[in-house]
Amino acid sequence: MRVAVIGAGVIGLSTAQCIYEQYHSLVKPLTIEIYADRFTPLTTSDGAAGLWQPYLYDKGNAVETKWNKDTFQYLQSFLSSPDCVKMGIFLQSGYNVCDEPAPDPSFKDSVLGFRQLTQPELELFPGYSYGWFNTAIMVEGKTYLPWLMDWLKERGVKFYQRKVESFRELFESGPDVIINCTGVRSGELQPDSDLKPGRGQIIKVDAPWLKHFVLTHNFKTGIYNSPYIIPGSRLVTVGGIFQVGNWSEMNNSTDHNKIWEGACSLEPSLKHARIVEDWSGLRPVRSKVRLERETLEFGQSTCEVIHNYGHGGFGLTIHRGCATEAARLFGEILEKRGWTVPSRL
Ligand code: FAD
Ligand code: BEZ
Repeated sequence: MRVAVIGAGVIGLSTAQCIYEQYHSLVKPLTIEIYADRFTPLTTSDGAAGLWQPYLYDKGNAVETKWNKDTFQYLQSFLSSPDCVKMGIFLQSGYNVCDEPAPDPSFKDSVLGFRQLTQPELELFPGYSYGWFNTAIMVEGKTYLPWLMDWLKERGVKFYQRKVESFRELFESGPDVIINCTGVRSGELQPDSDLKPGRGQIIKVDAPWLKHFVLTHNFKTGIYNSPYIIPGSRLVTVGGIFQVGNWSEMNNSTDHNKIWEGACSLEPSLKHARIVEDWSGLRPVRSKVRLERETLEFGQSTCEVIHNYGHGGFGLTIHRGCATEAARLFGEILEKRGWTVPSRL
């Protein structure tokens, strides 16, 4: 059984990992290959701050809320192991502040210690009258992706750096199943009018005195460009820009100035921080994650594809739940081909 995964962001790598974990002892030989034109540290998943929080997303989609929660619990299970350092995983607490009262978010029951902010806490954030405090988890792509790649390489997974031009082209090279984890560029392989880039630009700064994340939600003026500050293991990520439909991966000074002004009015001490770099990336924005099987027909042949893309501004937050579901779908294909897959899978 030969599986070809397209994409080496957090979604492609974690999906390959789940398929290996669930089936390597059942299916022999199980060959997993990963094709991508960008690898770590050049994927969107590397640039992301890495905060576990379904950012700008609370559509009440129960299955996505479950995949987010499953991911939180999976990451949490590593926190008391020395492996979490190599994985780029650590606890991080902080504030979500709103300029008007808002319903409790979908992640309320997933994070640790979720509670409403007290009046003295709200006074730390002039202009914000409502909010929550909780402990979440950071999963930093720049560390997590190399860890995932090493994990896969140690188990014989092969990596190929190249652009896949079409599903047919890849299928003709022989895999039994293709897993599509191509993120924002999935539309190049199959048109998808629901998939759009949600351009982001962030500034990484050296400000080791900042210890809590602060995410603002400006419902009155528009939530899409609300400032945020997220301390990481070494640098603090300052955002947030969210421009739907903009395909540019170039940093620009207008957005830089907008981010900096917003962040410094939220946290004036940032004026003393050393700016290290700007980074821009494209969130794969979709009304919901596309996680499903499709059988493509090429002449007389059929090709099984599992799509796993469209994770918007929450790919690191949801990755493991989606990878587990993609692996379950892979099990359905095995069953269709006559394998007996234990029901616990
Ligand atoms: P990617 O990481 O973009 O990987 C796509 C892969 O597909 C790449 O390897 C690429 O080379 C490959 N590919 C695509 N097409 C082809 C092709 N035709 N042939 C070969 N290879 C191909 N999420 C969070 O959960 N927490 C955060 O704190 C967070 N912060 C963010 C901050 C910003 C500024 C941005 C822009 C995003 C942020 N996100 C965050 C969202 C997160 O980065 C994405 O949801 C996630 O990276 C998507 O992962 P992916 O693997 O689908 O895509
Ligand atoms: C972002 O997409 O910019 C983002 C995602 C999760 C947490 C914070 C920011």
